[in-house]
Amino acid sequence: MKGIILAGGTGTRLLPLTAVTSKQLLPVYDRPMIFYPLNTLIKAGIKDILVIVAPDHSGHFLNLLGSMFEKLGVHISFMVQKQPRGLAEAFILAEDFIDGDETTLVLGDNIFEDDFTEAIRTFAGGGRIFAKEVTDPERFGVVEFGSDHQVLSIEEKPTHPKSSFAIPGIYIFDALVVEAAKGLTASARGELEITDLHKYYLGKQALDVRMIEGAWFDTGTPDSLLAASVFAKEHNFSERFHAMVNEAIVAFNGEYKKMVSLKK
Ligand code: DAU
Repeated sequence: MKGIILAGGTGTRLLPLTAVTSKQLLPVYDRPMIFYPLNTLIKAGIKDILVIVAPDHSGHFLNLLGSMFEKLGVHISFMVQKQPRGLAEAFILAEDFIDGDETTLVLGDNIFEDDFTEAIRTFAGGGRIFAKEVTDPERFGVVEFGSDHQVLSIEEKPTHPKSSFAIPGIYIFDALVVEAAKGLTASARGELEITDLHKYYLGKQALDVRMIEGAWFDTGTPDSLLAASVFAKEHNFSERFHAMVNEAIVAFNGEYKKMVSLKK
């Protein structure tokens, strides 16, 4: 299983915070946002991770993550998405990285309390996505269920949502996703939509939807960014990170302080 973190985009809803840096490098309480999706993948046992970033701040991601996890056996590689052409483009850009394997994609601005180890371990092909009941489904991809939990419809940010179940930004797909993404056409807003990939697997009767547990934040707005920070502080999120991630951060901080004192 490979892992991808999609950390590009423009972050315009967070301006001016995102004028000189990337959204996924903004702080969520005591660590940059990108550490949360990284932790989600590492905690689930994924050791080969591609981080897709926008051109403007790509060097910052490399400085921060470039060699942080290598000693711990987690390999992180980087790729630049020149323009934000949509979430599904990640699978086209990552074709060589995926190289016929299964992939878990996490959005760089999504923060999960849940542990996806079991969902990833038991994945047996097709597509596996997740659902979470929310009060503002119109902000998200929305899945509608029938009486037997079967999926009736999937829509991207509908004006009149058919259900209150949002689709969070973590997706597990088999290798067919690359060709499926290549076959998509851009939506009215000019993006290759991830929800069209869900529909592709739904059409093949190969889409599985699970409920997620615990808190989930899409930190794309000032309010949700603040809510995520408050939650992270109040629930000791940092301490609950995978030990390997915390170890890497402590080592990084130590090396950084040493470098700063050498410069003096
Ligand atoms: O948060 C979950 C939602 O994420 C899903 O429910 C929706 O179905 C899905 O479309 C997505 O909606 P958002 O409006 O929140 O997506 P956003 O444009 O904020 O992009 C999500 C992340 O992906 C963010 O970290 C920026 C990055 N991104 C986005 C685009 C469009 C890229 O790296 N490249 C892109 O082309």
